[in-house]
Amino acid sequence: MKNKRKVLKKVLKNKSVLLGVSGSVASYKAVDLIRRLREEGLSVTVVMTEAAGNFITRLSLEVASQNRVCTDLFSNPMAHITLPANADIFIVAPATANIIGKFANGIADDILSTCFLSFKGKVAIAPAMSWRIYENPFFQDNLKALLSRGVVQIGPDKGSLACGEEGMGKMADIATIVERIKSMLTKKDLQDEKVLVTAGPTREFIDPVRFISNRSSGKMGYSLAQAAFRRGAEVTLISGHSTLDRPDGVKFISVETSNDMLDAVNKEIESSTVFIMSAAVSDFMPLEMSEEKIEKSGELFLRLKQTPDIVSEVSKKRKRPFIIGFAAETGKHTERARRKLKEKNMDMIVFNDVTEPGSGFDADTNKVIIIDEEKETELPLLPKDSVADAILARMIEIRA
Ligand code: PMT
Repeated sequence: MKNKRKVLKKVLKNKSVLLGVSGSVASYKAVDLIRRLREEGLSVTVVMTEAAGNFITRLSLEVASQNRVCTDLFSNPMAHITLPANADIFIVAPATANIIGKFANGIADDILSTCFLSFKGKVAIAPAMSWRIYENPFFQDNLKALLSRGVVQIGPDKGSLACGEEGMGKMADIATIVERIKSMLTKKDLQDEKVLVTAGPTREFIDPVRFISNRSSGKMGYSLAQAAFRRGAEVTLISGHSTLDRPDGVKFISVETSNDMLDAVNKEIESSTVFIMSAAVSDFMPLEMSEEKIEKSGELFLRLKQTPDIVSEVSKKRKRPFIIGFAAETGKHTERARRKLKEKNMDMIVFNDVTEPGSGFDADTNKVIIIDEEKETELPLLPKDSVADAILARMIEIRA
């Protein structure tokens, strides 16, 4: 994953996070949060409250962040100025009702609340507390006051809480917090775009229990949808069967067959400015689907017909969006990708050799060549998130 770090470091290059940790049973999760943020190439500096020290040691946070952790106002008298001044974003996770109350009322009686007052940039809080406190009107007033001043709220979720009760107050999961931070740090260069993405495989039914499909996991398409959303686009994701979590902030439409996918695309395409066809649509479907489960007896011959070519249907439309397709090839057949680009009348095609190690189906990484009329851009093996960003960057360049 050396490559992953190198590239992501480029995306969030030189960005630093000031992480405030207040005292909650969720404080231990800060270690994981720091680890994930550093994996994304961000540097992290921690300030913690005295109460947080009851739940997690300063040493753990120093080891995780590889930076000195500040715990009080006076041991480093300038820390409340220098730490916020050097940070690009300020995130408090977990954020207790007490620290939220201090922030909302301008109280600065410890290192964390004082850093909040002196920080000039974007702030996010990830509340964590009992549902009883979360619902309390005094707390809700404080929360509203912060939100009305532009503080971003991440979570909490509903779930089983440390006190043993169920309710709203569980700190948002780390992946969600990391995604929101990445989004807050990303330039919104797709602000006015409506991006339609397809992902995953289609299933073509032979009978009610059997189908023809392929190995697509949806990872490439989900990364594209999330990356477009992070860059400010309004995003719709049409997905075949996938076990992945739905991307944050994205309108999600679930489909099974190629005909379902075509219907969903037709409904959404009119309002889209960019269409990204990364789904692995099955090329063939049974000529007829049996209404009943076919009984097992000897050999079975299936007659197949071609599925509708979704991307070609879209590119034929009079008013069509910018179209990005994919070419899944077994071998370095870039000439086939170029042919598909032309025949299907697309604006860009992303060639991936699905037989290369770490590339194509179900992998977390992909090795692609972005092909358009002007040039071919060959990328090294990269995490699908980074591939998605590179595809969007090239699209923006072409349309500029
Ligand atoms: O989902 P993952 O596990 O992350 O894997 C990612 C991927 C390998 C599926 C993805 O990177 C990819 O290559 N997707 C396109 C797969 C494919 O169908 O390629 P193709 O060369 O057969 O088709 C060319 C283009 O026509 C594609 O944009 C395809 O979506 C589209 N097509 C194909 C058939 C069809 N009936 N309708 C279509 O619109």
